[in-house]
Amino acid sequence: MDKLIISGGEALHGEIRISGAKNAVLPIMAATLLADSPVTIRNVPHLHDVTTTMELLGQMGVHLTLNENMDIEVDTSTINSLYAPYDLVRTMRSSILVLGPMLSRFGRADVSLPGGCAIGSRPVNLHIKGLQAMGADVEVINGYIKARVDRLKGTKLVMDLVTVTGTENLMMAATLADGVTIIENAAREPEVTDLANCLNCMGAKISGAGTDTLVIEGVERLSGTEYKVLPDRIETGSYLVAAAITGGHVKLKDTRPDIMDAVLQALQEAGADITIGEDWIELDMHGKRATAVNVQTAPYPAFPTDMQAQFTALNVVAEGAGTITETVFENRFMHVQEMQRMGAQITLKGNTAISTGVKRLTGAPVMATDLRASASLVLAGLVADGETSIGRIYHIDRGYERIEEKLAQLGANIRRVPA
Ligand code: UD1
Repeated sequence: MDKLIISGGEALHGEIRISGAKNAVLPIMAATLLADSPVTIRNVPHLHDVTTTMELLGQMGVHLTLNENMDIEVDTSTINSLYAPYDLVRTMRSSILVLGPMLSRFGRADVSLPGGCAIGSRPVNLHIKGLQAMGADVEVINGYIKARVDRLKGTKLVMDLVTVTGTENLMMAATLADGVTIIENAAREPEVTDLANCLNCMGAKISGAGTDTLVIEGVERLSGTEYKVLPDRIETGSYLVAAAITGGHVKLKDTRPDIMDAVLQALQEAGADITIGEDWIELDMHGKRATAVNVQTAPYPAFPTDMQAQFTALNVVAEGAGTITETVFENRFMHVQEMQRMGAQITLKGNTAISTGVKRLTGAPVMATDLRASASLVLAGLVADGETSIGRIYHIDRGYERIEEKLAQLGANIRRVPA
């Protein structure tokens, strides 16, 4: 297994471009199952989760082609299996996103239950409850969700809590249902909106995307389209934090400042000077040390849970004391112990990480347990004296395209070595 080796100390400077959003491309790939002619997806990030989704669709008999720009063309006319096996679903929870589209278009789906993961129990009960309310017969047998229906029926769904992939699964299912589906307390994440835009390009009738009420008028069929995935706001935020904690000055291109309000606000509170254009963000610390911030995660448009670990890395080297409170997932502080091994002054009280900043961390061998935790350890390594080696970086490769190349382009001393 590869490792990342980082020698800390360099302030980051320069420009990089941001890739397509992981959390948008995965549901869009699942949505291709709804179309009866080929869909071309552009701005696809080169990520392990994309490869896994291609493998999942490929196992179903779907024909996928990749062109030289990494655009993916998906043709579902060859589909011959409506089954998502445990081996794939357990490595990537978002595989659950094939459930709604398969059931809605083909009337049946067998999808493994994802099970728990490093950041909490993460059930999918609300996905199942919504499909049942739309008339599906759903059973869980031998660890598999077995769903059957003649045709889903539009209905009013009130979500018990805000779930991103839950909203996406039910929205996709509703596109081909008989009648109108209303999803209340829907997730407002930009990736949900991007999926809705893509589905509308395929012929769906969805309104209200970006608000907490989605109205989906079922149609008879969806067809192929060409769609460009929106930029990754979490990748954007991660590189902004990397620049902020090293006292650097970077410009990120091909991104979307308009979907980054909570993160940009927290960075400004940390002392960053931020300038934005339509599709770029520039952050300059003017060589200063960041100031610790207090943030609390919650569904969009509040501060994203997927940026929590990176801001923990910021706080542990910032001036003063700061708190990071996690309200979305139950166990998302696995990075804290690893940061303590690097000299971070940080304690956990319930779902809050309280830190007092130290000037520098010290390099250490550390290990990643989930995607964003791994990214936060890379950030910590950038401000650690000596060498930090990060193991299990397959977590990082799931969600960050060429992280070591992009950081090296900004002047970081980082390399990937085979273990
Ligand atoms: C998505 C994102 C992930 C992000 C998360 C929260 C993708 C592929 N992944 O994950 O990066 O961290 O949103 O922004 O888009 N819940 C239930 N029952 C359900 C569904 C969810 O209790 O049926 C709970 C979860 O345990 C969690 C909360 O709802 O506590 C929010 O989870 P959810 O929004 O569903 O996360 P994901 O969609 O899995």
